[in-house]
Amino acid sequence: MARVPLSIETIRRQIVGLEQVVPLLDGRRRPYINLDNGASTPALKSAQEKVNEFLEWYASVHRGAGFKSQLSTWAYEEARAIVLRFVGADPRANTAIFGKNTTDLLNKLAHHYRARGERVLTTTMEHHSNLLPWRVDGGLVDYVGVRADGRLDEDDLVRKLEAYGGDVGLVAVSGASNVTGYVTPIHRLAEIAHRFGARILVDAAQLAPHRQIEMGHPDDPAHIDFLVLSAHKMYAPFGSGALIGPPDVFADGVPDEVGGGVVDIVTLERTVWNALPERGEAGSPNVVGAIALAAAAEALQAIGWPAIEAHERELTAYALEALRAIRGLRILGSSDPAAVDERLGVISFVLGDMPHALVAAILAHEYGIGVRNGCFCAHPYLLQLLEVSPEEAQAYQAAIERGDRTRIPGAVRASLGIYNTRAEVDELVAALSRIARGDVAGDYVLDRSTGDYALQGYAVRFEDFFSFA
Ligand SMILES: Cc1ncc(COP(=O)(O)O)c(C=O)c1O
Repeated sequence: MARVPLSIETIRRQIVGLEQVVPLLDGRRRPYINLDNGASTPALKSAQEKVNEFLEWYASVHRGAGFKSQLSTWAYEEARAIVLRFVGADPRANTAIFGKNTTDLLNKLAHHYRARGERVLTTTMEHHSNLLPWRVDGGLVDYVGVRADGRLDEDDLVRKLEAYGGDVGLVAVSGASNVTGYVTPIHRLAEIAHRFGARILVDAAQLAPHRQIEMGHPDDPAHIDFLVLSAHKMYAPFGSGALIGPPDVFADGVPDEVGGGVVDIVTLERTVWNALPERGEAGSPNVVGAIALAAAAEALQAIGWPAIEAHERELTAYALEALRAIRGLRILGSSDPAAVDERLGVISFVLGDMPHALVAAILAHEYGIGVRNGCFCAHPYLLQLLEVSPEEAQAYQAAIERGDRTRIPGAVRASLGIYNTRAEVDELVAALSRIARGDVAGDYVLDRSTGDYALQGYAVRFEDFFSFA
């Protein structure tokens, strides 16, 4: 594939929707500044265009004899091969199962680990998607701790693996945190896990769009066994994700979802399950989502990892330097601009004692800046980073159960993507500096039941911006 000459303008031209303007409280409209890439990224034009091109040929996958069905099936399988290549997985040893997203696919893998009765070690820094699936329905799970600085405690991993004496089937860790942006040393952890006879799963929902991944050869002790990713965080928001790994774990027992596609033979008495990957993909697959994911993966590779990583590192260092100079702003985890090799541009912070939801609302309404606030689906990790005492945690949890989210702890998160610029970071920093000084134009009122802040006397009609008419 031809290499795209890299400049930030070139990259920005490849992103859908950057020219869209959004309304501000003072009546102006301005181009949206999206600093919420950790939640979902905008689409790459190549993913959008590839989907449009493919829709001319779109038909059923694995289910039709006609030319369009055959072509759609071929394209779907090509997308699988592209995803395997994207993460540097050996296609002879691994398969890629498409699903809705990381959550969906972690639930799928967890179903099989539960069925096999194998113990899983996850960590307290995980997104709930890599925490809850392992422990529901009697799953055997334990949690590796996090150090005071927010980094994974590798000594605790070793201690736990030793304590279980070879009775751990899987170590499930995030490749990068969606709260602190810390990049986990996945290959070092893989070596540790393998030494104790366990496999390793990497939740690459955050990592995959920002860093090159090489799962490696199965004979290499540092190889990654399983990896999951979400297309909507990789500039391909068409409802797809992939789980990459060896097929043996899925081979026994009943698939997590049953129906069409997963079976070879069905009588009223007997079911013979299909082989992977079909066995893992019940029902008609999201072929459009798979095409978009593969197109985005190709586009990221064409831009080139050295360029992506260099740009994001430089921008993250720039943002950290400026953010930490704001009075009262505390970054969760490392705020060291020199340490950007160990982290992504996912920057969570608190601003004095201002409620996180209020800061996020002001950024949206008065500056057109999109960030996320709250606990980022990582409650245990966030409570540790915010140093919430057990008593405080109990008090706010009791309040939530009464329907009062006033005191819900949390932070504000700005997360950068390949297309963000220094100018956008400057705008965030200028806005936060003004907010920190109390320079706020709107009258914001807390909704106790949601914990969100609404702007009094202000309403927008979304129909003016997008409509089905
Ligand atoms: C680290 C991590 N894991 C898992 C998920 C869940 O991803 P999805 O919502 O695509 O299932 C997220 C989403 O924010 C995440 O950041």
